[in-house]
Amino acid sequence: MEGWVVPPPKRPEKSKEQLREERDEKVRWLVSHGYLKSERIKDAMRKVPREDFIPLLYKDYAYLEVPLPLPGENATISCPHSYPLFYEPLGLDKGHKFLEVGLGSGYGTALAREVVGRKGLVVSIEIDPLTFEFAKKNLTNAGYHDIVLVHGDGGLGYFEMSPYDRICITAACKELPSPLMEQLMTGGKLIAPIIQYGIQTLVLFEKEEKGIRSKVICEVLYVFLKGKYGVEEARHGRQRDSQSTE
Ligand SMILES: C[S@@+](CC[C@H](N)C(=O)[O-])C[C@H]1O[C@@H](n2cnc3c(N)ncnc32)[C@H](O)[C@@H]1O
Repeated sequence: MEGWVVPPPKRPEKSKEQLREERDEKVRWLVSHGYLKSERIKDAMRKVPREDFIPLLYKDYAYLEVPLPLPGENATISCPHSYPLFYEPLGLDKGHKFLEVGLGSGYGTALAREVVGRKGLVVSIEIDPLTFEFAKKNLTNAGYHDIVLVHGDGGLGYFEMSPYDRICITAACKELPSPLMEQLMTGGKLIAPIIQYGIQTLVLFEKEEKGIRSKVICEVLYVFLKGKYGVEEARHGRQRDSQSTE
C-alpha cells in the first residue's frame, strides 16, 4: 500500500467562516459515506475546529482526507475519516472512561471529550515530548482543562485511572500491549491497527468474561507504535516517510 501525498506547507488564507463551512460539509460527507452514524460523534465533529489542532502552515488543509505532519518524530494528525472509523465500532459514548494511546495533535482527544461528556473521563498518553507539548497547548487554547494528559509510553497504559470502558491505540502494533488489555474492564472494547504479514488492519477487541473476541474492521496505514511494546523499526527511527502517515 502506498503512503499519502502530503500537500506543501503554505501560509493560511482561509477564513474561520470558510473552515466552518468545510467542517459542516465534511460531516455530511462522512455521514453519506457511511463513516459517521452516532449523533454524539456527529455533534462532536461539528463542534471541534480541526484547524485549531494543525500546525499553521497546514491549517488550510484541515478537511482534506490526508494525514498532516505534527511537531515530533513521525507524528501526524490522522485523516478526518479515521476518527469515526475508530470511535463508531468502539461505540464510544456518554459517560465512558476512555484511554487514548497516541495523543498526536489532541484533536481526537477533544472529540472524545465531547462524546463522553461531563460524566465521562478522557486520558491520553503521548510518547514524543514535542508532540505532547503541541497537543497540550492546542487543548488548553481550545478550553479543554479536564483531560488527563500523560507524557510517557502508552503501551504501559495508565494504571492510576484504570479500568477503562474503551481504549484506542492510534499507532500500529505487532502485538497488543498486555497492560492495555489488563486495564480494560470486562465488557470493554479496545481498537487498534495491528500489523500481520506486513499489512495493517484495524481490529476491534471485546473483553468478555470468558476471553477476548476480535473483529477485523478494514485495512489501514498508521505510524508505528514506539516504546516497550513498539515495532522494532519505530524504536530505531526507521519508519519510511511513505509508511509514516495514515
Ligand atoms: C497517528 S498519530 C495520532 C493522531 C491523533 N489521534 C490526532 O488526532 O492527532 C500517532 C501518535 O502516537 C504516538 N505514539 C507512538 N507510540 C506511542 C507510545 N508507545 N505511547 C504513546 N504515544 C505513542 C506518536 O508519537 C503519534 O503522535
